[in-house]
Amino acid sequence: DVLRQPAGRLSGLRVLVTAGGTREAIDPVRYIGNRSSGRQGVAVAVAAAERGADVALVVAHVDSGVLDEADAHPSITVEHAGTAAQLADAVARLAPTADVVVMAAAVADYRVADPSQIKLSKEGGGGTLQLTLEETSDILAATTAARRDGQTIVGFAAETEPDHDARLERARRKRARKGVDILAVNEVGWTKGFETVDNALTLIGADDSVLASVAGTKREAAEALWDAVSALRDGR
Ligand code: CTP
Ligand code: CA
Repeated sequence: DVLRQPAGRLSGLRVLVTAGGTREAIDPVRYIGNRSSGRQGVAVAVAAAERGADVALVVAHVDSGVLDEADAHPSITVEHAGTAAQLADAVARLAPTADVVVMAAAVADYRVADPSQIKLSKEGGGGTLQLTLEETSDILAATTAARRDGQTIVGFAAETEPDHDARLERARRKRARKGVDILAVNEVGWTKGFETVDNALTLIGADDSVLASVAGTKREAAEALWDAVSALRDGR
């Protein structure tokens, strides 16, 4: 096909990427968050833009400096969404026109059911604090449920399971549950995967096969992801 662009190019494609960790309010000054730095998601966005895509990047909390390259890139539009609910709204608005959606954001599974309007105080407390948490909506599952023809959807999963095979099996179940075309899995722990430059990713395809395993910088992991997405879209 002479009209087809060179393998791996994403010219003319609209790509939606989410990155960073959401923060759910406990009171006006406190939140429940997670350790996502946003580095991997932002690397995915920058790599797509470099391959010619038109990128919408929706970010929750990211570490300082992580957004610099994306902010400066002419093909990336950055939008901020701090909570799981705000992220859900942004994705619901942007996903319908995206050719590829990559959900790299670490989304809170629970939010505080009734955040306090005033700063909580120990005064008069009994030495413990109880918070009631409620589940957030599953943004990725909603996106795959509303998938339009030709849309490619990628999820991420950070898993602490140390055994390689058990981790893969868990990831395969998660891929199927989410209905994504590719699930990118990495092993995390207190000293592994977060706030680091490097990452090790395993990409699981819809047939449960391992499409690629990559260990390297987060940018290299992002390139492997786009190679896999391009191969899938080209039917290779
Ligand atoms: N995700 C989402 N909305 C949520 C939670 C997760 O869109 N409320 C997305 C993440 O961005 C990620 C994928 O789902 O791309 C997998 O997230 P993960 O936390 O691994 O999956 P969960 O279904 O929340 O399962 P677990 O109980 O293991 O946390
Ligand atoms: Ca989760």
